[in-house]
Amino acid sequence: MFQILCSELQCTKTIAKNEVITNDTYSSRTANNFHNYFFSFNMERINNQFCIQNIPVTSLVEKYGAPIYVYDTDKISKQYKRLKQAFSGIDIQINYACKALNNISILNYFLQLQSGLDTVSIQEVELGLKVGFAPEKIIYTPNCVSYEELQQAIKLGVHINIDNLATLERFGHDYGSSVPVCIRINPHILAGGNSKISVGHIDSKFGISYYQLPHIERIVKAYGIHVNGLHMHTGSDILDIDVFLQGAEILFDTAKKFPNLDYVDFGSGFKVPYKPDDIETDIELLGEKMSKRFKEFCTEYGKNLTMMFEPGKFLVSEAGYFLAKVNVIKQTTSTVFAGLDTGLNHLIRPMFYDSYHTIFNVSKPEGLSRIYTVVGYICETDTFGWNRKIVELSEGDIVCFKNAGAYCMSMASNYNSRLLPAEVMIKDGVDHLIRKRETLDSVLANQILV
Ligand SMILES: Cc1ncc(COP(=O)(O)O)c(C=O)c1O
Repeated sequence: MFQILCSELQCTKTIAKNEVITNDTYSSRTANNFHNYFFSFNMERINNQFCIQNIPVTSLVEKYGAPIYVYDTDKISKQYKRLKQAFSGIDIQINYACKALNNISILNYFLQLQSGLDTVSIQEVELGLKVGFAPEKIIYTPNCVSYEELQQAIKLGVHINIDNLATLERFGHDYGSSVPVCIRINPHILAGGNSKISVGHIDSKFGISYYQLPHIERIVKAYGIHVNGLHMHTGSDILDIDVFLQGAEILFDTAKKFPNLDYVDFGSGFKVPYKPDDIETDIELLGEKMSKRFKEFCTEYGKNLTMMFEPGKFLVSEAGYFLAKVNVIKQTTSTVFAGLDTGLNHLIRPMFYDSYHTIFNVSKPEGLSRIYTVVGYICETDTFGWNRKIVELSEGDIVCFKNAGAYCMSMASNYNSRLLPAEVMIKDGVDHLIRKRETLDSVLANQILV
């Protein structure tokens, strides 16, 4: 038996060493001197080992090697159901934004949950169709793609979302009213956790300005275009629910000009916790407020429309873990670096978005903590986290990155000629290899030596 001091909650609790600590029990057990518990928030700890669905995380590394991405489908389904539940009483369609994590087994899991798919390239459309999504469950929201690509998507029968006037005009000329279309509106709202992921503001390349509505109307009228949907997406990592509610009002206002709508797509951008003390978008409150307002809007509009959302992060961020091995511990005059057998080629978010990923030692769940700057092996500044308090690391230990489900593997590259990691999906308590570790042969497959 040992004791956990929950300093933040001002309570003490004694637990058995082999007690199973679930998310729920854990959430009341934040502890400063047992911060490893804190960091393992979504994992269970069984017999002093970090586990996902009862599978010890270190055993996955023994079986499949490192570095490796691991996805917990229980968490995905929990988030999916939570979102649906928040908007109960509404005809809601959730289209998973597959750019966040595009392994076909993950897409197949979403198919089984009866999710739709949000796609931004013809390749994502094709992946979705290959997995078995019906075309009407796929929305294609491209930006600056060729007209030929748009035509391909039209042929494949998916929902088309257009986000610029020139394309809308050409589309109208070629298709008239024969193909229904959704229009992406730029609501001029500056929101999001980082300038690179704020996409609904005046200087953004996305969407057609709300102030260009008269121009949209002229084109629609001139070609008899059948506008069946309106869409917006203002950014990612948006905490304030008023941003979503304000954006919704802009779409409701826009909707008055389009009498043949079937759906309104409010995009996504829900914030999830990354840091230990982070807060997230209050989905339940948003659901309550927005459902009420949507019902009123439908009454005003005179038709029950479908409400759509297209989350990526909310559905998969916390379901993913990235496991990597410590290659070296390097003490310099000012810093102790923990150098890993991975780099920004596998997880670019810290370097690209300044994002924070909790990192902890899964090989040693307990012990003295030390301060490390965790870095990768790429030949340029490649830092995962500065000054992180982690249970003392040794060469060969396995560290785990939290929130590694969204925009991690899907943004991975072969930079420095490094190979892509393997991916494992845990479903119903069983681990499944869903992507083999890359080999040099597969990297060379399309290269031609002349
Ligand atoms: C058009 C569109 N929809 C949905 C998303 C998903 O956003 P998030 O991962 O924040 O939920 C994105 C993200 O970039 C997007 O561009």
